[in-house]
Amino acid sequence: MSSREECVSIDLEGRSYNIVVGAGSLHAATTFEGLPSAHAALIVSNTTIAPLYAATLRSAIKSRFPVVHEVLLPDGEAYKNWETLQLIFDALLSNACDRKTVLFALGGGVVGDMTGFAAASYMRGVPFVQVPTTLLAQVDSSVGGKTAINHPQGKNMIGAFYQPRLVVCDLATLDSLPLRELSAGLAEVIKYGPIADVDFLDWLESSIEDLLARDRTALAHAVRRSCEIKAWVVSQDEKETGLRAILNFGHTFGHAIEAGMGYGVWLHGEGVAAGMVLAAGLSRRLGLVDAAFVERLTALIARAGLPTKGPVLDAADNAGRYLELMRIDKKSEGGEIRFVLIDGPGKAVVRAAPDALVREVIDACCG
Ligand code: NAD
Ligand code: GLY
Repeated sequence: MSSREECVSIDLEGRSYNIVVGAGSLHAATTFEGLPSAHAALIVSNTTIAPLYAATLRSAIKSRFPVVHEVLLPDGEAYKNWETLQLIFDALLSNACDRKTVLFALGGGVVGDMTGFAAASYMRGVPFVQVPTTLLAQVDSSVGGKTAINHPQGKNMIGAFYQPRLVVCDLATLDSLPLRELSAGLAEVIKYGPIADVDFLDWLESSIEDLLARDRTALAHAVRRSCEIKAWVVSQDEKETGLRAILNFGHTFGHAIEAGMGYGVWLHGEGVAAGMVLAAGLSRRLGLVDAAFVERLTALIARAGLPTKGPVLDAADNAGRYLELMRIDKKSEGGEIRFVLIDGPGKAVVRAAPDALVREVIDACCG
């Protein structure tokens, strides 16, 4: 590890692993030193990212894996489905990959979630490594072992908990990320403040322009602190029996937006951004936070270049359509929607809310 790199550990007993955060980590063979040895590796990437970074990754891992295969998926949330997952299995089988083969997910959350799910199920489980190349994937999706594909009726509905062996966040890869995608990643960074760390929220308020300008020092702090908070939560509740649900702040509304608009129309982070404003508004209506906190959060989200209002999903009964979509949520119990709400700055709770209040906040914050 070079002196500019930092390492966050995620403590899961026999399945613990490191998250390396640095600039240029992808170039160094030493980054991958602790991985199990195997005859073959499979790099899973997409048609946008592979031309930028696959050769660098291949070169860094070639001394550990005599054979490095590659499979390229179509790019986009709309392809996070069974047909695309099958391309990974096709590549594994047509190259006669055995159960020691190590999969490398090189890309954003879509590639990471699908590669993880393929690794969880190929021959009942093979090792995999996350090499996240979006800010969103570096601060959230590559860490914690949630893997999934979408179903037309619901986001991430088919998947598994399956931990990677290593996460490599090379900040240099963020240089090529489109600005809209950088902003989308900031939604997941901002999320950690209201749910767990008010000091981090303060820091974000003073650093948001630096982050948008891709200042390496600011990005390093944002990625490291986000990973620390996520690692702390996941270490306590890997399979989301309780605490881990707080990481879904903004996601209940956000997933409804993504599914309701059609996957890929709104970016995941954009849905989460508007969803956080809606969830904060609902928290205020339930008397958990004051209006000043909602305004503070909304202002930060706007400064990050993110939407602060949800879209209209149904002109005839918009709130009804949101409610219908939100009932198909992994946190729902017996058809009752459970929201992640802010119970005072820096603290989250998960609970149900009366439909009338949910309708009120949707009517006020969408359109
Ligand atoms: P994404 O994977 O679609 O990547 C965004 C876009 O940026 C894509 O077009 C991609 O090809 C491109 N791209 C990626 N890296 C690039 C780079 N360095 N330079 C240029 N272009 C680059 O989207 P995302 O925001 O990374 O991930 C969203 C997905 O993550 C959603 O499916 C969401 O459900 C999932 N997610 C999962 C978890 C989890 O815990 N598993 C958490 C949050 C989000
Ligand atoms: N992104 C939410 C979680 O990992 O639990």
